[in-house]
Amino acid sequence: MINVAILGYGVVGSGVYKVINDNNSHVSRRAGDDVRVKYVLDLREFPGDPAEDVLVHDFDVILNDDEVDIIVETMGGVEPAHTFEVKALKAGKSVCTSNKEVVAKWGFELLQLARENNCNFFFEASVGGGIPVIRPLINCITADHVKSISGILNGTTNYILTKMAEEGLAFEDVLKDAQKKGYAEKNPEADIEGYDACRKIAILASLAYERQVDYEDIYTEGITKITGIDFWYANQLDASIKLLGLAKRQNGVVYAMVAPFIVKQDNPLYGVCDVFNAILLDGDMLGDVMFYGKGAGSLPTASAVVSDVIEAAKNKGRNIPILWRPEKRQLGSVDVFETSYLVRVSGLKAVDRLKETFGNPSDELRYERNKEEILTNEVKKVFGNVKFLMGQDGEEVAFVTKPMSGAEFEKAAEDFVVENRIRIADL
Ligand code: HSE
Repeated sequence: MINVAILGYGVVGSGVYKVINDNNSHVSRRAGDDVRVKYVLDLREFPGDPAEDVLVHDFDVILNDDEVDIIVETMGGVEPAHTFEVKALKAGKSVCTSNKEVVAKWGFELLQLARENNCNFFFEASVGGGIPVIRPLINCITADHVKSISGILNGTTNYILTKMAEEGLAFEDVLKDAQKKGYAEKNPEADIEGYDACRKIAILASLAYERQVDYEDIYTEGITKITGIDFWYANQLDASIKLLGLAKRQNGVVYAMVAPFIVKQDNPLYGVCDVFNAILLDGDMLGDVMFYGKGAGSLPTASAVVSDVIEAAKNKGRNIPILWRPEKRQLGSVDVFETSYLVRVSGLKAVDRLKETFGNPSDELRYERNKEEILTNEVKKVFGNVKFLMGQDGEEVAFVTKPMSGAEFEKAAEDFVVENRIRIADL
């Protein structure tokens, strides 16, 4: 008998309980032994719920029960989740978790503890929810150097961007609609500012490049500045706009970032819409491979957690090594990272400064009448060979730059009033 304890009976935890019970004979057969949920830990009561009989409120009951082999941590948040995981591993109990915050911050430490205590620390559901990506990365794509990983790692923002693209709606309106439908949290910051995707790409980068990537080091930009006008220009490029988590080796340096990107139709990530997630990986031998599916939700995420439970059950008393060294990976700066940009400029800062100082200089009228031409010439002078896009109303000039480093871009853009700039995914 394999006894499982589930910490946290929320969306994912209750899904894990359901998967283990509804698919019990299948799960047990795959695990090689009968699997049952012996405890569910939660502060709340669940009267009438099937888990009521196994509900406990004290973690020590679980920790001190020698019959418990596997602990599923689906509480979320940092504490007490992290402490409970540490205690469980030290007691020789395997831990399976969907908690990306804990994995991103302490993954290497928890793996080390699992090694020392002949048990396992598995975290398939921490990235991409139900999509199998962690195990393929550590068990299957092992012969390759990973050239890059680019992922749509957050369902909420992908839903918002999809609706903006399809229905021409403003960011704020789609966000409100997503909150009503339960696709976005009441406090959506972690999703829309890219923090959730940042933790996930930190985990993937740590595994792909074998050393600890601190999420605090990852340049992170959310989607709040994206407007309908950006989509209008993206459309001219046969492209859409997606929030990507990116990890890439460029000229021997590892870069990681989260930012909105222009994604062209020939990129497999282009067709990943609504709440779906996908992770596109480029191996030096394999080439491109993409993992696609549901990145959130109770049963999809629970499916990934229970696959870890089965793996832990099959390997009871034996540690499966996972390469994630504690030494910190020094990431390349975005100032050095090279990419093309879609840029929208609406004026020259020098002219704005003149206006502020002198009110209405005599040259202003001439500038306003010829703004598009003046801006176009200035863009050509500063950015060199660019591709101009069809303007909307003469109020601004939009163009695509050649690949340039972040620092080169900032320098070139400093004289312009930049309405927005979005990096272009280079597939
Ligand atoms: N808020 C996350 C998302 C949930 O939208 O993808 C899964 O981590």
